[in-house]
Amino acid sequence: MAENRDSCPVMTFPLAPKIQQELQTKFGSFDKGLLEVGPGRYLLPPHCRLYLDKYAQFRFRPDDVVVMGFPRSGTTWTQEMVWCMTHDLDFTTAINTPLRERSPFLDTLTGFSLPGFLAVNIFKQHPDEDSSTTGAFLARAESLPSPRVIKIHLPFSLLPPSILESCKVIYVARHPGDVCVSYYHLQRLLKSVNFKGDLEEFLDLWCRDLVLRGPYWSHLSEAWAKRTHPNLLWLYYEDMKKDLLRELQCLDHFLATGLTEDELLQVAQHSSFANMKARPATNLSLIPESPGLMPGEAEFVRKGATGDWVNRFTSQMKAKFQAWVETGSKGVGEVPPRYTQG
Ligand code: A3P
Repeated sequence: MAENRDSCPVMTFPLAPKIQQELQTKFGSFDKGLLEVGPGRYLLPPHCRLYLDKYAQFRFRPDDVVVMGFPRSGTTWTQEMVWCMTHDLDFTTAINTPLRERSPFLDTLTGFSLPGFLAVNIFKQHPDEDSSTTGAFLARAESLPSPRVIKIHLPFSLLPPSILESCKVIYVARHPGDVCVSYYHLQRLLKSVNFKGDLEEFLDLWCRDLVLRGPYWSHLSEAWAKRTHPNLLWLYYEDMKKDLLRELQCLDHFLATGLTEDELLQVAQHSSFANMKARPATNLSLIPESPGLMPGEAEFVRKGATGDWVNRFTSQMKAKFQAWVETGSKGVGEVPPRYTQG
């Protein structure tokens, strides 16, 4: 169903010049800086202004499944499993077709100035779209036949208010320590971000809520407030790592896919960390000539561990992180208690 937000466009706010300058120095590709967007003041690149109202008015279909979460929370993993579950366990297509082509990442934002950055095949199907713009992903999502599985990193407040009345949404959450470490590696890997500092410098920005698509707690709390809605399924990355079959059974129930235990085990096997890391359709290795990826950095499907942040933070970094957990999580609405306990 279409949303009418014509009278209420998504607001954007400039960052303080000093912060803008700091971000431009630390991120090689944020030469135009970042913007604060919407009431939650999420940090997004300036070209998002072209698309914000389109996201807020996106026409979801009743049989759409949206996989949502803060970046590095396990959304790609979930997307792959959900795509297979809703596409008759078509593992052959899943293996041979890039995930981003089968299942659009609606709010792709960081491939903006890098033609060829993401699965070129998408653009071949939309020759009238400028391959260097986010618009190609929106066009792809709009034209894809049902049933669509759509990945979204935007928070609820930047999407149509009635999204949960329109379709099913799966929200994937992950411990912020692991998200921070994983995000650090991604922000170094993507040339369209090109973070130049070390983990300690990234943590400093993280704890000041100065990372792309942050703040983390606001994103989480917006979704947590909706967790009892029948069209929202809340998943934890840690639970998927611990007992994937159990989480797949929850997914099967939520999606009404009616799969047997044996079929769910096939989904688990197909989507195992090792398989997704090795397979070009999910590991981003199909990016042509790799203009978009920085050589020598950790891969997109990287380590897949839980709790590893404690091994990566020094005691000083842990103290800073803990202070952010305490203050940051209190400054927003309710958040999952398991992530605020020491
Ligand atoms: P790490 O960097 O900690 O390894 P997202 O897709 O939301 O951006 O999340 C990316 C994180 O999920 C990365 O975490 C990535 O390695 C991990 N991941 C991807 N596929 C996975 C799988 N099949 N099993 C476990 N973790 C996976």
